[in-house]
Amino acid sequence: MVSADFSVHPGAVFSEAIGNDRLDRLTDYPFTRLANLLSGITPRANTAPIVLSVGEPQHPPPAILDETLRANSAGWSKYPPVGGSPDFRAAAGDWLTRRYGLPIGLLQHDRSILPVSGTREALFMLALLAVPSSKAGRQPAVLMPNPFYAPYEGGAVLAGAEPVFLPATRETGFLPDLDALTPELLERTALFYLCTPANPQGAAASAAYLARAIGLAREYGFVLAVDECYAEIYLDRPPVGALQVAAGLPQAAGDTPWANLLVFHSLSKRSSAAGLRSGFVAGDPVLLGRFSRLRSYANAGMPLPIDAASTALWRDEAHVEENRRLYRAKFAAAEAELKGRYGYYRPDGGFFLWLDVGDGEEAARRLWTEGAIRALPGAYLTRSNPGEPNPGAPFLRIALVQDAELVGQACAAIVRILG
Ligand SMILES: Cc1ncc(COP(=O)(O)O)c(C=O)c1O
Repeated sequence: MVSADFSVHPGAVFSEAIGNDRLDRLTDYPFTRLANLLSGITPRANTAPIVLSVGEPQHPPPAILDETLRANSAGWSKYPPVGGSPDFRAAAGDWLTRRYGLPIGLLQHDRSILPVSGTREALFMLALLAVPSSKAGRQPAVLMPNPFYAPYEGGAVLAGAEPVFLPATRETGFLPDLDALTPELLERTALFYLCTPANPQGAAASAAYLARAIGLAREYGFVLAVDECYAEIYLDRPPVGALQVAAGLPQAAGDTPWANLLVFHSLSKRSSAAGLRSGFVAGDPVLLGRFSRLRSYANAGMPLPIDAASTALWRDEAHVEENRRLYRAKFAAAEAELKGRYGYYRPDGGFFLWLDVGDGEEAARRLWTEGAIRALPGAYLTRSNPGEPNPGAPFLRIALVQDAELVGQACAAIVRILG
């Protein structure tokens, strides 16, 4: 497929008076940067490209997806409601209750669940919901791990906040160090994005970590957004979730257990259905009420056939178990080639490898040139803090989205090419 080219050409006349200058503070999106890095290079290897750059699972989604879409095709002619159907909210709520062992009835389906057309747009848009014009008399801060999912930064910057990049290195357990956050920063924090299991490092936050993050959100009055879109891709133990932790925290009578907390879940990874554009946000009913108002101005609701197909997918576990079996085989294939190299470790969840290859951009160029393998330089997922080198520069992100045999071949080629 030939991609659209919306790059701004040198010499193009662009009047600053008509543009949003905040957009200029963002770099190109990571995949645009990768396309630029590799453009003009024809791979030497006479093989089909192996795409390990995009987190787009390649197993087919289960048959119930197509079947349900077809059975609900009458819905294409209707404008869908922003809040989704009661059936969708019940399926998502029942799934959360089962998956995280929540007390039955604690999560109110009609107040605590909002469907979204993929979590990317919702994570971006959340910043418009959460960032006030000032906080503690200063420019609000939006905290995020470094490396991070690009829409967190996009949302923060477009909402007029200062994005603050928190080191999430091997030394910090690949998650931000909550003890390193100063009261000065927390007071002006409007929103904190956390990702567990993390993309790209795969670290899952512990219950104690999540409890502390929720406590900070309540103490300092900010929104804690926990991006759990990889929650269902794990090898051994299911990662704990933020709602599960919040349900066990002490609370005053009449308070919602979900105060200040929103979690994000998606079918893109769980059901290998990235093209369906289906996810939901759950948690604090007050925030979700305001989010729903914001979304009714900015977003169309989830199309009704997609709402129905998503409902069926959240109710089915068999295909998710089969998915995990496939990922276990991929990790075994990768591990056989990479164990003991490039700082390889088995992540707690997700399907990425975060490999220390010395120079991620150079490695990506060589893998494409010599092996027709596309992988993402870590530096495209990280920012440098002032005066410091880019912490992602030595890394390469590999998405184990192809089948196990191809993953094994690609990993063997990585070792052959990078040494
Ligand atoms: C960390 C993270 N969050 C959210 C998403 C968004 O997924 P979707 O918009 O398909 O729900 C992705 C997709 O790659 C991701 O990596």
